[in-house]
Amino acid sequence: MAIPPPLGLLAELTHRCPLRCPYCSNPLDLERRAAELDTATWLRVFDDAASLGVLHVHLSGGEPAARADLVALTRGAAQAGLYTNLITSGVGLDRVRLEQLVDAGLDHVQLSIQDVLEDAADRITGLPGAHARKRAVARDVVALGLPLTINAVVHRGNIDRVEAMIAEAVALGARRIEVAHVQYYGWALRNRDALLPSAAQVAAVREEAVERARGGHRGTLVIDYVAPDYFARYPKPCANGWGRRSLNVTPSGKVLPCHAAESIPGLTFWTVRERPLRDIWERSPAFTIFRGMDWMREPCASCPRKSVDFGGCRCQAFALTGDARNADPVCTLSPMNSLVRSIAGTERGREQTPAYRTFARVPFS
Ligand code: SF4
Ligand code: FES
Repeated sequence: MAIPPPLGLLAELTHRCPLRCPYCSNPLDLERRAAELDTATWLRVFDDAASLGVLHVHLSGGEPAARADLVALTRGAAQAGLYTNLITSGVGLDRVRLEQLVDAGLDHVQLSIQDVLEDAADRITGLPGAHARKRAVARDVVALGLPLTINAVVHRGNIDRVEAMIAEAVALGARRIEVAHVQYYGWALRNRDALLPSAAQVAAVREEAVERARGGHRGTLVIDYVAPDYFARYPKPCANGWGRRSLNVTPSGKVLPCHAAESIPGLTFWTVRERPLRDIWERSPAFTIFRGMDWMREPCASCPRKSVDFGGCRCQAFALTGDARNADPVCTLSPMNSLVRSIAGTERGREQTPAYRTFARVPFS
């Protein structure tokens, strides 16, 4: 059977980052600089991706600006015919570098903000001055005519300021904001007790803050809202289905079906150092294992929603139930859903110190 091509490639150019956010989507075991792909290999990956059918590349990290060759990589991706989206913290960019990126063919910038209160924002990033730097970068991005999306990651510490973050995105000249609750994998899973909001907070954001802001900013700002899994009735169609629409290349060249796939034990990831991207996409065991729906067990196997959400998230199923073949336990039809309800329903104190992301091995329990 012919495998339809992926549409998007997440290129994790590096895991290095000046920020240390405790909900970072990178794996707990970060890849070091010495293991990173060189410029020529990345350029080949972009050419391979375009021939495979990929339409857009997300230049991400870590912080992609930590790569000295970011401009060359952007130029190579644009010349390959890919739509180029830079996903950045902003730290490491300045006006000159942004001008070079525009000249190289950069199409879009996605900039994260952590809060509207400078001290709270800087505290969660672990980097004093980070928020002011981001504001300056946002203004430069807009002044250079690049479309700007603001990524606002929401957790218990900032959830009461979602409307203010949306207003900040408007003030910065963004065309779109993604208000996305933390997803609990990797670092965020380790820090879940410090990050998970209460059901009442989540309801207030979904039903009041976001709807009110959508009404107020209609025609000016697109507001995308990513709901928190733990309070949902059904899971999200994670990665739009495993091995179906997108792939991730890690800094060292491993090709993953989603950013957290390495958290599932027993999967072997082929690398772009050794094989062409097409071969990996079509034949790699890590892609074929959960591609389609034949792998599903009940209740997913006979569920009418299986072609809508693909059984939810394999990584979450493994993290919470110990078996990636189970239905995502976020689903109210899952026999293990009570586990998620109990986590979501537990009252937590407001002030808990999360573990910051670090390259050092952390003695987590
Ligand atoms: Fe989705 Fe499986 Fe739940 Fe059905 S049972 S809604 S396919 S996770
Ligand atoms: Fe891996 Fe959802 S993050 S399938």
